[in-house]
Amino acid sequence: MTTGGTLASRLLAARFPRSDDELVIGALPARALAERFGTPCYVFDAAILRENLAAVREALGPRVGVLFALKANPNAAVAQLLHAGGAGAEVASAGEIHVALRAGIGGEAMQFAGPGKHGEDLRLALREGVLLNVESAAELEAIAAAAREAGVRARVALRVNPPASMTGSRMRMSGGSAKFGIDAGALEDVARRAEALDGVALEGLHTYAGTQTFDHEGWLANARWLVERARALDAALGRRLASLNFGGGFGVPVFDKDTPFDLAAAGEGLRALIDEDGADRRYHVELGRYLVAEAGVFLTRVTYLKESNGKRFAILDGGMNQHAAATGMGTVIRRAYPMVRATRLKAPAGEEGCQLGGPLCTPADVFPTAKGLELEQGELVAFLSSGAYGLTFSNVLFLGHPAPAEVLVDGEVAEVVRAAGRPEDALRGQRLPGEAG
Ligand SMILES: Cc1ncc(COP(=O)(O)O)c(C=O)c1O
Repeated sequence: MTTGGTLASRLLAARFPRSDDELVIGALPARALAERFGTPCYVFDAAILRENLAAVREALGPRVGVLFALKANPNAAVAQLLHAGGAGAEVASAGEIHVALRAGIGGEAMQFAGPGKHGEDLRLALREGVLLNVESAAELEAIAAAAREAGVRARVALRVNPPASMTGSRMRMSGGSAKFGIDAGALEDVARRAEALDGVALEGLHTYAGTQTFDHEGWLANARWLVERARALDAALGRRLASLNFGGGFGVPVFDKDTPFDLAAAGEGLRALIDEDGADRRYHVELGRYLVAEAGVFLTRVTYLKESNGKRFAILDGGMNQHAAATGMGTVIRRAYPMVRATRLKAPAGEEGCQLGGPLCTPADVFPTAKGLELEQGELVAFLSSGAYGLTFSNVLFLGHPAPAEVLVDGEVAEVVRAAGRPEDALRGQRLPGEAG
């Protein structure tokens, strides 16, 4: 992607090149999509999904398997498309295993991380032959017991918590005391226990250090550290571990000043590391955001404009209940997502901007904007880079609005791949005392 200009203009040029004054997703103009599917809705561009995966596979080379971390976008059609391009899945629940299976991904092509796997998570994973990335000694025992009960052998890898957190990642999930993974100092003991336990087969190691990593050197240092740990463990156990998973977290620019992750340099470094490590292991990465973020657009419409004590407000028909990340939820500093007026891309921003709010009665339901944009009632506003951690990260039950539809566009073809909700959904599963279930 080119640099310079705002992130929104760079994204439009690089990802939606058919756009002129109107945003065009695949071959379909935003206005037509909004009329056909209603707003708010998420639109995913199949060509960008394919491109992203192909770029990663090309950069990392044939020895690295790519798993799509479903948590970023648990839509079966998206997963199916990425699977067709060669991706397996990283799953985080029995629910995500169901989504992956629906996408045609077999259990042998799935890995499962998460510090609290138990019950149906384990039963389904074991039934489907999913590789379990173990996060604690206690979990290892529970997995072994569940496997014995099911009469199978659990495929496991140990998720390691490195002693230092990875540099350059916006949300760190390793280092020091962590709820994720097994401390490096305890690794050998847990590995020996895994070797001794009935019901488990230890296949390798896993690490996941953090999300939104823009420093490829930091990411590679973490990968190098995992290879060193694997070598030490090979020596201690007297055999080579069969698989290593380096995690994910490749950064995707969301703010104007973010610089893209250097995929080529990361790939070069990883290939060299793997070549040095030997020829007999399987290697994986598990990426969410990098594969899907830029393929997604959250399309909303301005319901009302209003003025209040000298400030202008635009109330959109989509809010934090549908795209929490764009309101800054989960971040310390609430910064603006790349956002455009979908049918007036070329019009000057205007002198007086509007504050953007969703329909919810909470002050948290506002979308930070980098620079004020003048908006008109009824016009379409598109949040770019919204294909990852969009609907899945949002508090959809809050205030009982229906969930937005998800639409997949492939060139000139658009299809609903998750139906919009209905107001009655607010009652789903509820029961008054004494009512039959
Ligand atoms: C264990 C694990 N794997 C993969 C991912 C995907 O990360 P990203 O979307 O940043 O690539 C996450 C995200 O939190 C994770 O926790």
